[in-house]
Amino acid sequence: MTVPRILSGIKPTGRPHLGNYFGMMRPGIEWQDKGEAFYFIADYHALTTIHDPAALREHTSSVALDFLACGLDPKKAVLFRQSDVPEVTELAWLLTCLTPMPMLENCHAYKDHLAKGKVPSHGLFAYPVLMAADILLYHSNIVPVGRDQKQHVEVTRDLAEKANRIFGEVFTVPQPSIVAEVATVIGLDGQKMSKSYNNTIGLFEEEKALRKKIMSIVTDSAPVEAPKDPTESAIVALYKLVADPASVALMEDQFRAGGIGYGEFKKRLFEAVWEHFAPFRTRRAELSADPEILRSILAEGAARARAVALPTMERVRQAMGLH
Ligand code: TRP
Repeated sequence: MTVPRILSGIKPTGRPHLGNYFGMMRPGIEWQDKGEAFYFIADYHALTTIHDPAALREHTSSVALDFLACGLDPKKAVLFRQSDVPEVTELAWLLTCLTPMPMLENCHAYKDHLAKGKVPSHGLFAYPVLMAADILLYHSNIVPVGRDQKQHVEVTRDLAEKANRIFGEVFTVPQPSIVAEVATVIGLDGQKMSKSYNNTIGLFEEEKALRKKIMSIVTDSAPVEAPKDPTESAIVALYKLVADPASVALMEDQFRAGGIGYGEFKKRLFEAVWEHFAPFRTRRAELSADPEILRSILAEGAARARAVALPTMERVRQAMGLH
């Protein structure tokens, strides 16, 4: 069997949070040892929401540093900026012409927008097509994403199959890869952790800010002495992500036994989160000390990405009758 190509993107709309890390970044980083991993910073996608050029540049570099600090190894994986391969927008147009409107009208980001009474941009509507272009341009086999992106990978599969039927075998049909147990990380309010719910815990928060956030996790009003249900608690759910199994078992037992208040459990959770990400903070400080490091990693990534993308585009243009 040939080595699988793994590809995923992260939108630079702000600092990554635990949901991004456990749902996408960490599984993505684990893949770098199992195949040819391609990761990019989706700055074109970010334009659906960010219209401040300085902020977009800043977020793009910052997310790349975060990824590297979390263990992405640029010798193994290809890390690049989406807009360094502008051919992806050309492919997005070609795919757009094969995309039935109802398929996009059914996509959740667009539907949510409408449900909130907002007017979606054409960019938001077409977002899944650009994502399909990202995936297909690099002949990706596996796409590690959070559960919220699964629908987009299905759109990609549909478009790839349709294009292959019409134009011959031009695209590789990808598979999504969802890490089941952590695909949804719980946020401070007990809902799914998401920027749009304003309930996130950032990966690289300052100590004080992190403590404050964790102390603000919503709980019921059970008094200190009361037994508590660990299966219903955001504290336990988050603790499971960062603590060893024995510590988790202890916390669950102490929840059930009663006698310890939520405040105490939150302090324990804070310590565990702080510790878990300590090596990442150190590495991030080292990397950001010299901007040349990131510049050269992204330049090399762009060159490696283009080496795959340009031949794909040539083949697709030929197949569709453009050349
Ligand atoms: N839409 C993804 C997100 O919001 C980011 C993304 C863009 C992506 N293109 C992709 C993920 C291609 C996987 C593959 O998280």
